[in-house]
Amino acid sequence: MDRFVVEGGVTLRGSVEISGAKNSALPVLAACLLTEEPMTLHRIPRVKDIRTMMDLLVHMGAQVTDTGSGPVAVTAGSQLRPEAPYEVVKTMRASSLVLGPLVGRFRRALVSLPGGCAIGARPIDLHMRGLEQLGAKIEQTHGYIEATAPNGLQGAVVHFDRITVTGTEDILMAAVLANGETVIENAAREPEVVDLADLLTKMGARIEGAGTSTIRIQGVKGLRGAEHTIIADRIEAGTFAIGAAITRGDVELAGCVPEHLGALTAKLRQAGVIVTETAPDKLRVQGGGPLRSVDIVTEEHPGFATDLQAQYMSLMTQAEGIAIVSERIFENRFMHVPELVRMSASIRIDGRQAIVAGPRKLTGAHVMASDLRASASLVLAGLVAEGETIVDRVYHMDRGYERIESKLAGLGARIRRERS
Ligand code: EPU
Repeated sequence: MDRFVVEGGVTLRGSVEISGAKNSALPVLAACLLTEEPMTLHRIPRVKDIRTMMDLLVHMGAQVTDTGSGPVAVTAGSQLRPEAPYEVVKTMRASSLVLGPLVGRFRRALVSLPGGCAIGARPIDLHMRGLEQLGAKIEQTHGYIEATAPNGLQGAVVHFDRITVTGTEDILMAAVLANGETVIENAAREPEVVDLADLLTKMGARIEGAGTSTIRIQGVKGLRGAEHTIIADRIEAGTFAIGAAITRGDVELAGCVPEHLGALTAKLRQAGVIVTETAPDKLRVQGGGPLRSVDIVTEEHPGFATDLQAQYMSLMTQAEGIAIVSERIFENRFMHVPELVRMSASIRIDGRQAIVAGPRKLTGAHVMASDLRASASLVLAGLVAEGETIVDRVYHMDRGYERIESKLAGLGARIRRERS
């Protein structure tokens, strides 16, 4: 198992190139199952979750060509076995994204139910209910979900009781090949949903309203191959923005989409950080002045992303005053708090709120990552802590951040990877 050793006290400076979005690449790879024609995908981030999704496609019989850099080519021919086994699904919850495309094209899918998760229960009941509304028969046995639709799926109104990102993506992918019209109500408005809809449209799907809460899909008989470039990872960009702010640095985020980062940049500005759009795809983030505490509440897009909550909390340990961080999306996403406290932060949890008192001088410690974004928050804290911070279990970080240590080192951070 690898770990990071971070030496604190360095100011981040320079330019960092933002990778393609993991949470966009995952549904886009699943969408390759919707056609037998070749697909060409650019800017796929080479992170563990993406490799797992590619392994799953190969396991089902698709051809995946990945030279490690440059585009990824996927062809999901007609001989596909529409089955996702536990061994693959247990390591990545997003595997449930193959349900919709498989039942849409092959009229049958057998997908293992994902197991527990560090940040909350994360059921997939809304995905299943949505597929049922499209006419699929769903059975659950031996830890698997079997979805069948012998005569194909039928367009319908799918109203989500609560907003779900991958649920919206799953139903969108199921609906593009259904008979007639599907309307998804209370749909997620995340940029990753829009990116998926853009790709599906290039493949010949008829979709209106992606990026709003109502998406209308007119089913088509078949889809063709397409070429697509994945959008920039707004969570990676946000993590580096917080890195610049917490170290009082000056960092350019190159190749990002500033409008996807609106909720974060508003909070950073209120906190005293200078954020400037220097080009349509570039943001410059300058810390240095006094940092003020600013509350956040995580919400669905365009609200403050839950995937940036942990990193933002690290920043607030350095700000003057009390910041209340409210987590509304997941029920258990404060696993980083005890670790930050071990680094001398002053944070108290009260239900779904964390109360952060700052500024506190952080001190390096041996800490443990519990999930992807929690690991990022610990590395960020390590950048400003006195002395050395050892972050264990960096496999969490490897699931979603591409070449994180070399990108950070490129900005001047003292970080190295070690085998523990
Ligand atoms: N929910 C249900 N039933 C469902 C689906 C969701 O109750 O069938 C609940 C969840 O338990 C959660 C809430 O609804 O409390 C929202 O979950 P959502 O379905 O939106 O999350 P997700 O689609 O599983 C994606 C991202 C997450 C990100 C969330 C929220 C991908 C692959 N994953 O998950 O990303 O936190 O949306 O924005 O897109 C990460 O990258 O670190 C990560 C966890």
